[in-house]
Formats: sequence, C-alpha cells, structure tokens
Amino acid sequence: MSHQPVLLKEVISYLQVKKGGLYVDATFGLGGHSKAILAMGGKVLGIEWDEDLYKKARIKYQGFLEKNLFLANKNFAQIETLAKEKNFYPVDGVLFDLGISMEQIEKSGRGFSFKKVDEPLDLRINTKIKMNAAYYLNYWSKEELYQIFAKNTEVTNFKPLVDEIVRRRKFKPIEKVGDLVSIINDKIKQKSEKIYRQIWQGLRILVNDELENLKKGLEGAKKILKQEGRLLVITFHSLEDRLVKKFAFENDLNFLTKKPIISLSKKTFERSAKLRVFTLK
Ligand SMILES: C[S@@+](CC[C@H](N)C(=O)[O-])C[C@H]1O[C@@H](n2cnc3c(N)ncnc32)[C@H](O)[C@@H]1O
Repeated sequence: MSHQPVLLKEVISYLQVKKGGLYVDATFGLGGHSKAILAMGGKVLGIEWDEDLYKKARIKYQGFLEKNLFLANKNFAQIETLAKEKNFYPVDGVLFDLGISMEQIEKSGRGFSFKKVDEPLDLRINTKIKMNAAYYLNYWSKEELYQIFAKNTEVTNFKPLVDEIVRRRKFKPIEKVGDLVSIINDKIKQKSEKIYRQIWQGLRILVNDELENLKKGLEGAKKILKQEGRLLVITFHSLEDRLVKKFAFENDLNFLTKKPIISLSKKTFERSAKLRVFTLK
C-alpha cells in the first residue's frame, strides 16, 4: 500500500524549503515528506527507528544517499547528537510526523493494528527494545497496569479490563493481538473502533516510551535550529499535542500557527492529525 504523507502541502509550505537548505526529517518512514523536500533542492537528515523501514528507505532513496540525504537508524531522542556528529546543523527546519505509518500497520507483523488478530502483541517500533506489549500485560502487577492505563491511554473505564487481563493470564498467557481483543470484547460494553485504537495507542506509548522520546526530541530540535528555522510537529492524539504545546510555552517558542492545522482527509487516522509550527524567539 502506498502511503500518502499526511498534510504534505502544508508541511512543505510551512518549511519554506530552500535550495541547499538543511532539514531534519525526524520520522523518516518511507520518506513521503522528504521526497518533496529533496525535489525542491533541500538536504535531508532522515531519522528512522524501525530497522525494517530504515532498510527499505535506504534502497528506495539509494540515488540520493550521502549526497542530499543522510539516513540514520536511530531514535529521534538523539537528534542533537546525530546532527552534530554528521555536521548537519544549524538547520532550517525539523519535522516530526509522529506515531507509526500505514506501512508498519500493514506489513510489520508486530501487532500494530487490533484487526491483525493472529499477529503477536509486540508493538515495538525498534526490536532492540527489551519488553514488548505482551510482556507488560503478562508480568506487570494489577496496580502497575492500572497506572499504565491511567497515564498512557485516554480510556477512562479501564479497571474491569485490567482485572480481566490479570484473571485470564493465570490460565493462558496473553500473546496475540486476538487474545487482548477477546478480553476487550468481553469487558467493554459500548464497543467502537475508538476504544481499541485508544488501548493500542496507550500500549504503544508505553512500549516505545513515546512521550519521553518526544520530549527529548523537541529539546534536541530546539538546539540545532537556526534562529529563523522552523519546527513542525504533526501529532495524532491529545497526549502528544498537550506535550508539544507545553514544551512550546515552557521554551518560549513562537506559535506560527495560532490554531493547529488539521487534516481534511476522510481516513480515520489522518483525521486526527494536527500540525503545529514554531520558531525560536
Ligand atoms: C507517521 S510515520 C512517518 C511517515 C513519513 N513522514 C512518511 O511520509 O513516510 C512515523 C515514523 O516515525 C518512526 N518513529 C517513531 N518513533 C520514532 C523515534 N522515537 N525515533 C525515530 N523514528 C521514530 C516510525 O517508525 C514511523 O516510521
């Protein structure tokens, strides 16, 4: 499945891409946004944490590598060190297009969708991470799971769900996507896709330490931006968006977009995309 990058036109327009300008694409994926930056003569440092995607990206963009495009299989929490190591700074723009891509949902085999019931309940973006989602659900105490759900999900009525996870795992470990889906189906009365998406999102945040990485990524991005450079962040849920806003206030950034730019796409996950653009003061 080809992946049309989210808010592409808006991203390109706000980045004000210049020939020879330096841009960090902190969430490279398969380079949907970067492709357009490269086509306009910009140079890109692309960061992608998922090893499989990184390998695919290297093949896809072979012709650009080490000329206009530098790719790193790293966590964007290390953005500052990476840019400095590669002497790729100060930069004209940094883009974070958060979360995961359709490519990962469709092809990773790591359980990123609640619809892939036969896949393992893994949810690691990078497979060097020690604990996957199933590990937490099988080994963490009930109280720890309550805390996880309270902190990382927007689900309010999670206690019966956690209680059932803890009851069932005594008989059979939770291993597959379908194991968790069946618990949700039993315990949550008003089922909508939203509840599954929120639970998967919360587990992904936990497994990949997404909010902590985002904080570090934003701190690093601020340090490598030129005075007039632009920081663009696309978030997909309110926990991310709140963190980004808080960061911008605490770091006295200029909000170039008074209200976030939203996607008019009809596709479910793109519908929740919000783009915010900042500059340094
Ligand atoms: C929404 S997708 C980006 C898609 C990309 N803009 C495109 O057009 O192909 C987010 C990407 O960020 C990657 N990612 C998530 N967390 C990351 C992190 N902490 N460091 C680096 N990459 C990360 C994911 O693996 C995924 O490929």
